[in-house]
Amino acid sequence: MKFWKYSTNVLATLLAVVSLTQAGGPTDGDAVADPNSAVVKLTSENFASFIEENPLVLTEFFAPWCGYCKMLGPEFSKAADSLNESYPKIKLAQIDCTEDEALCMEHGIKGYPTLKIIRDGDNKAAEDYQGPREAEGIVEFMIKQSLPAVITHESFADLNSFIDEQSKPFVLQINPTAEGNATFIKVANQKRKDYNFVSVEDKKIIKELGKKFKNSDITGKKPSYLIVQPDQFDDVAKFDAKKTLDVESLTEFIQVEAVPYFGEINQNTYMTYMTSPLPIAYYFYKTPEQRDAIAEDLTKLGKKYRGKLNIVGLDASLYGRHAEVINMDPEIVPLFSIHHIADNKKYGVNQTEYPEGPSFDVIEKFVEDYFEDKLKPIIKSEPLPTEEEKSANPVVKLVAHNYDEILKQLDKDVFVKYYAPWCGHCKKLAPIWEELAEVFGSNKEDANVVVADIDHTNNDVDVPYNIEGYPTLLMYPANGKIDKKTGLREPIVFSGARDLDSLIAFIKDKGALGVDGVELKAKLQEAKEAQEDEEDEAEAEAAKEAEEKKEEKESADEEEEEGEEVEHDEL
Ligand SMILES: *[C@@H]1O[C@H](CO)[C@@H](O)[C@H](O)[C@H]1NC(C)=O
Ligand SMILES: *[C@@H]1O[C@H](CO)[C@@H](O)[C@H](O)[C@H]1NC(C)=O
Ligand SMILES: *[C@@H]1O[C@H](CO)[C@@H](O)[C@H](O)[C@H]1NC(C)=O
Repeated sequence: MKFWKYSTNVLATLLAVVSLTQAGGPTDGDAVADPNSAVVKLTSENFASFIEENPLVLTEFFAPWCGYCKMLGPEFSKAADSLNESYPKIKLAQIDCTEDEALCMEHGIKGYPTLKIIRDGDNKAAEDYQGPREAEGIVEFMIKQSLPAVITHESFADLNSFIDEQSKPFVLQINPTAEGNATFIKVANQKRKDYNFVSVEDKKIIKELGKKFKNSDITGKKPSYLIVQPDQFDDVAKFDAKKTLDVESLTEFIQVEAVPYFGEINQNTYMTYMTSPLPIAYYFYKTPEQRDAIAEDLTKLGKKYRGKLNIVGLDASLYGRHAEVINMDPEIVPLFSIHHIADNKKYGVNQTEYPEGPSFDVIEKFVEDYFEDKLKPIIKSEPLPTEEEKSANPVVKLVAHNYDEILKQLDKDVFVKYYAPWCGHCKKLAPIWEELAEVFGSNKEDANVVVADIDHTNNDVDVPYNIEGYPTLLMYPANGKIDKKTGLREPIVFSGARDLDSLIAFIKDKGALGVDGVELKAKLQEAKEAQEDEEDEAEAEAAKEAEEKKEEKESADEEEEEGEEVEHDEL
C-alpha cells in the first residue's frame, strides 16, 4: 500500500506540473472565492442540507494559505458564475478546512485543494474530481457530469452505429429490473469518466442485438450485464447471473473485465489499475509510433492473459519517472516490466541487454517465464557498506542486501531510522542519531543495542509497519514477537521528542534488554573530555568553527523544512 501512495504522488506531481504550465503559469489569486460569486460557502452547519437539496455539487476543500488553492480560487468563482447563468442546478461550493477541520476530516481530506463531486446528497459515493482547474474547463466538465450517465438509443440502427464507434470497452445493460436499473445508474455515475454505460430495454432492439452477439443468451427474458470489447462480439464478458447484483459486485466485475486487453495508464486510469487485484505489465514508450508498432501484439497477449495480468502502455514523455518506482532505468525506453502490486515485487526485461527496447518475442517469453515463476524480482539496494565505511560510521548502515541479516539478530535490540534523502527532519535528526549510536557502540560486534538507519527510498525492504512519513523510528526488541507476513519482529514505534535523552530513555524503557544509556553516555563524555584536554588550542578553535558551521547548516535545514511542509500538504 505504501508504494501505492508514493506512486500516486509521482503521477499527481507530474500532472500538476503539466496542467499548470498549460494554464499559463501561476497567478497569485485569493484562495477564498469572491464572496459576490455564485460559489457557496459550506460549513458543518449547512453542508448536509445543501448537498441534500442540490443534485450535483462540486466541492472544493481548501486552505487559504495553499498555493494551488490560490490559483484555483478565481477560476472557481468564474466557473460558478458561468454555470449559475446557464446550468443553475450545478453548484460549486467551498469548505475552508482551517475553519472546519472536523468536516474535512470526515471527508478524509489529506491535501489541498481536494475537489469532490457529490450527487443527490450521497456523501459516501462522492468521487474525486480530476478534471481541469481553469474556469472554462471546469464548466465543460461539470456540464458533462450533469448529463445522464447511461446512454440509450431509439433504434437498433442508432445503437449499432454507436457500438461501431467505440474504441474502448463499454458496459451494456439489457432488459433490467427497476432495482437493477437503479444499481446500474449508480455505478455509471461513479465510473462515467472511465467507461460508456449503455442500456437497452426495447424488446425489438434486444432481439436484433442478440444476432450481433452470436454466442450469448442475452435475448432471454432475464436481465444481463455485459462488458463489450470493441469489435469483439463473440467474446463478451457476462456478469454471473447467480451473483447478487449490487454496486460492489457490479463495480468489481467492471474493474476486472472492462480494462482493455492493452490499455493505457494515465491520470484517469491509474486508480483502476492500482486497485485491481491483478499484476500490471507496463510497456513504456517514447513516441506514439513505438506504441502503435506493438499495440496489436500486446492486445493479443492481453487477451491471452485476461484475468491474470493487466497490460498497459505508459507515455514516458509524460510519466517516465514512474520507471524509478518499479526499479527500472527511466533513461532506457521502450522498456517492459511487471509489477506484482500485492507483494510489491518488480520484474523487468533486462535493459542492458535491450537498450533499444525488447521485441515482442522477448516480451512474450518474459511474461511466460513470469507465470512459470522463473523470474527473479529486481531488488533496489544501495551497495553494502565497506569495512572502512563501517568503522568510520557509528550508525549501522542498512541496505536491502544486509537488512534481513541485521534485523534477524534476534538477541539484540535493533533501533532503525527509516529516512528519505530529501527530508529536512531527517537531516536534523542525523547528528543526534550518530551520537546515539556512539553511546551504544552500535558498530561493534558485541553491541547489545544496534542503532541503524536506512534510506528507504533507495532500498526495497519489508517493514512490518505502515510508514506514513520520514523519519520513522522503529524499535525491534530482542526476542520480540515475529510478524507473520514479513518474518521480522513486530516493532515499537518511537513518537517522542527527537532528542538524545528521550531516545536513550526509550531504548531503556522499550528495548527488551533495558540497556541504560545514561551511564554509557556519561562514560563516553568523560573519555571525550579527557581526549579534548590533550588537544591544543588551535584544534579547539577549529572545532568551534566547525560547530558554528553546523549550526548555520541546521538553521538552513530548518528553513528548508518549512518549505517542504507546505509542499507535502498540497496535492
Ligand atoms: C445566479 O443566477 C440568478 C438567476 O439568473 C441570479 O438572480 C443570481 O444573482 C445569480 N447569482 C450570483 C451569485 O451571481
Ligand atoms: C431505468 O432508468 C431510466 C432513467 O431513469 C428510465 O428511463 C427507465 O425507465 C428505467 N428502467 C427501468 C426498468 O426501471
Ligand atoms: C543484464 O544483462 C547484462 C548484460 O548481459 C548482465 O551483465 C546483467 O547482469 C544483467 N542484469 C541482470 C539484473 O540480470
